Amino acid sequence: MSSYKINNTLNTVYNKDARSILDTIPSDIKIATTITSPPYFDMKDYNSDDQVGYGQTYDDYLNDLKLIFSGVYEITEEDGSLWIIIDTFKREGQVVTLPFDLSSKLKEIGWLLQDVIIWKKDKTVPWSMGGFMQRKFEYILFFTKSAKYKSNKDNVRVYDTAHLKKWWVKYPERYNPKGKALDEVWEFPIPVQGSWGDKYIRHFCPLPTDMVATMIQLSTNENDIVLDPFAGSGTVLSQSAYMKRNYIGFETNKDYIEMFTAYLQKTIDENSAEYELASTGVQDDFENTILNLRALKYARVLVASIQKKLAIKDIKVIVVRGEKSTLRNKLIKVTYRFITLTPSDAILAAAESLINKQPLSKFGIEPSFDFVQIEEIDLTGKNGYTITNTYSFNKQLDLLNPSIKVISEIKVDLNEKDYL
Ligand SMILES: C[S@@+](CC[C@H](N)C(=O)[O-])C[C@H]1O[C@@H](n2cnc3c(N)ncnc32)[C@H](O)[C@@H]1O
Repeated sequence: MSSYKINNTLNTVYNKDARSILDTIPSDIKIATTITSPPYFDMKDYNSDDQVGYGQTYDDYLNDLKLIFSGVYEITEEDGSLWIIIDTFKREGQVVTLPFDLSSKLKEIGWLLQDVIIWKKDKTVPWSMGGFMQRKFEYILFFTKSAKYKSNKDNVRVYDTAHLKKWWVKYPERYNPKGKALDEVWEFPIPVQGSWGDKYIRHFCPLPTDMVATMIQLSTNENDIVLDPFAGSGTVLSQSAYMKRNYIGFETNKDYIEMFTAYLQKTIDENSAEYELASTGVQDDFENTILNLRALKYARVLVASIQKKLAIKDIKVIVVRGEKSTLRNKLIKVTYRFITLTPSDAILAAAESLINKQPLSKFGIEPSFDFVQIEEIDLTGKNGYTITNTYSFNKQLDLLNPSIKVISEIKVDLNEKDYL
């Protein structure tokens, strides 16, 4: 059988039966993660003599999957993993629990089931109609080779503000600057359009590229090797290539490999550039905004608490953001400069008494304090905030305005109504 090699074993789709994995992949190759969606038993004829599923008994099918995934286990790195997208289906009036039957087989091999993820889809697939309820999800099974596995959680935190509740604007201290951790329900729409048109999509049922990208981010680093033993349209392989990972695929239908190869050549430049762009900037922006919001809100809470403690009304503070903190549980250094006529030990003592207690102790800020005379202040490039709002700057910055309490070069202008 021929294989379409782009570069020896790596970045190759073998036009071979996945049952031959161990005979095909050289023993020095180690896989970081496998992402795959095998045929769902006999639901679909993929038009090849050596396909698994179609034309087999359920037991033979499961045993063949076991054989394939035990080969995968052998060539997987010790901290490697396996993602399987799979679903239940109905036969003779009842549900066949394929995800769970397969899990038991994989357990016998040594794969450790770490997570059962629900892939919530916007549409049902045609073969799951006709039940009592509409089917709206499939399973993603996440296995690892050992208990210590590669998991780049910070790479896939949700930092897209469109997916965060509006509270992040007013309560930045509750949001991890790296974004929100993933949960076990993943919402990704089924791809509806592609460069190959609807016919291509209907034919292949390709996986959503963002979903595959999430798995790749979580369980691999650049230059690692990603395997898909049931490559189909090659979504996993092309996404790996865009993200600077190496790929290896198996696919029994030669036509699919030819289409994939042409598709990859056509899309690699644009999508690699998009990956580069996405990996710089967006997350950093979110992190920066959360830290800015925290630094400002800290000042507001500090001023309000000190005023209350000392029964005075006229404190203002300048916020100067510093570098990263090296202290445990602290993220950044911030200097808070109290504007007073004379440095006041009482203010300093009050501040010191507040910083190790909640809520200020929870902001991740390592503060330092000093004093500044009102006439020393240059307002150029500075923004003012009030005692009730440090997420949108006050348009009139006037130090004589009693409602301005926090002054900073940091400029934020957010409206929680713009978010969910
Ligand atoms: C559910 S599809 C995979 C779809 C793929 N995830 C995508 O994004 O397009 C399963 C694929 O496995 C292939 N296949 C079936 N039996 C196989 C075998 N024994 N070895 C390798 N590939 C096989 C089928 O031709 C089909 O393309």
